[in-house]
Amino acid sequence: MTLPSRWPAILQAVMKGQPRALADSHYPQWHPAPVTGLMNDPNGFIWFAGRYHLFYQWNPLDCEHRFKCWGHWSSADLVHWRHEPLALMPDEAYDRNGCYSGSAVDNQGVLTLCYTGNVKFDDGSRTAWQCLAVEQPDGTFTKLGPVLALPEGYTGHVRDPKVWQHDGEWYMVLGAQDVQKRGKVLLFKSADLHAWTSCGEIAGHGVNGLTDAGYMWECPDLFALDGTHVLICCPQGLAREPHRYLNTYPATWMSGEFDYASAAFDHGELHELDAGFEFYAPQTALAEDGRRILIGWMGVPDGEEMLQPTRAHGWMHQMTCPRELRYRDGRLWQTPARELTALREDEQRWQGHASDAPDLDATRLEFELGASHVNVDFGGALRLTLDEQGIRLERASLKTGETLTRYWQGDVRHLRVLCDRSSVEIFINHGEGVMSSRYFPDHPARMRFEGASDITLRYWSLRACM
Ligand code: FRU
Repeated sequence: MTLPSRWPAILQAVMKGQPRALADSHYPQWHPAPVTGLMNDPNGFIWFAGRYHLFYQWNPLDCEHRFKCWGHWSSADLVHWRHEPLALMPDEAYDRNGCYSGSAVDNQGVLTLCYTGNVKFDDGSRTAWQCLAVEQPDGTFTKLGPVLALPEGYTGHVRDPKVWQHDGEWYMVLGAQDVQKRGKVLLFKSADLHAWTSCGEIAGHGVNGLTDAGYMWECPDLFALDGTHVLICCPQGLAREPHRYLNTYPATWMSGEFDYASAAFDHGELHELDAGFEFYAPQTALAEDGRRILIGWMGVPDGEEMLQPTRAHGWMHQMTCPRELRYRDGRLWQTPARELTALREDEQRWQGHASDAPDLDATRLEFELGASHVNVDFGGALRLTLDEQGIRLERASLKTGETLTRYWQGDVRHLRVLCDRSSVEIFINHGEGVMSSRYFPDHPARMRFEGASDITLRYWSLRACM
């Protein structure tokens, strides 16, 4: 069945699904989430003609990773998002198994999408085409077709074009797997977005002495930031370490000198971008005022995701909050986009022994915490422990019930935590680290502080805006 013949099914899925999703006590009230079906990567994130546009991988038909379309939201302020027409559906031979991830550019005033057409064959093999689509006056998109076939030396896993302009030329990074099944980031160059020439590999196995770097790198994003260049990408197959890379797939960053003339990226080591349970496939955009803003998928394609209880309500996953990125002292700093403070209401302050602190309603909550030792219980479904080692975040596996732990190690001086109905985003030391996680408490979820140490608290309830 081709997707055009699924139009009635998509309309029905949305009409039936939206009220069901909104009635779910875990449906977010200030983060973008799908009205029905499964959402994954943010795509095409851009500030264009006075609004932010955020596209997303979306299967509107059910909660499985298939039928990937591009959904589309726009926003004037990164806080209030409105639905735009469905942008892309996999209805052409070159994208029949999914309009996979990609980016958006402003091509002389035309909002242009660069995405991967994913094609699977009966023998289990696949190919990928990098494709373009342009916006029409009514907000729909017209596909222009493939502009780049599989480059030689790589498997069918070449995808997720992130395109930008520099000195009048277009550049594209692609996530890739070479024929020896090693992860890479490829760079291409074009004068017109249509004819692309290879500039080689800029990261991955064998580049800058990197080895054991996994079998496939997804969703690269390369940008200048505060006097350096940062490459964000998602290497699949990195070895788990005792305290990092504990998710099935991690998101990472590295920084260094990128030289356009030689197309060489002289970068340092890989770092985990977010130490929480759910974070993957982030993408950045430049705000009108020059800030580099990141949004990630608060999900990971792993065995646990299919056990999330929202599935029974016909929807899955949400985005992270938008974050401002800065580079300082050799580190990437992430803080909630300043626009989000518009959601705060009813500021309160409290100081004393942790165990005397008031319970807080975690439904929509932001708090700043000063403490050296404390435990925070989120509705009995997630537990944060802060001590001299750093932070431990614990929750039960949805599969086995065993306790799973994620770590952020270091001296913790300050926490800023943003909660929605089924998510917690923990910003450590004003952005030195972040831990993003979903959790599924009974509502109203009470948040409780425990321990004998003194803590200082400043907190707000957050307005529902979605
Ligand atoms: C990352 C990813 C991308 C791909 C998309 C498909 O989560 O696997 O590499 O383009 O999801 O939905």
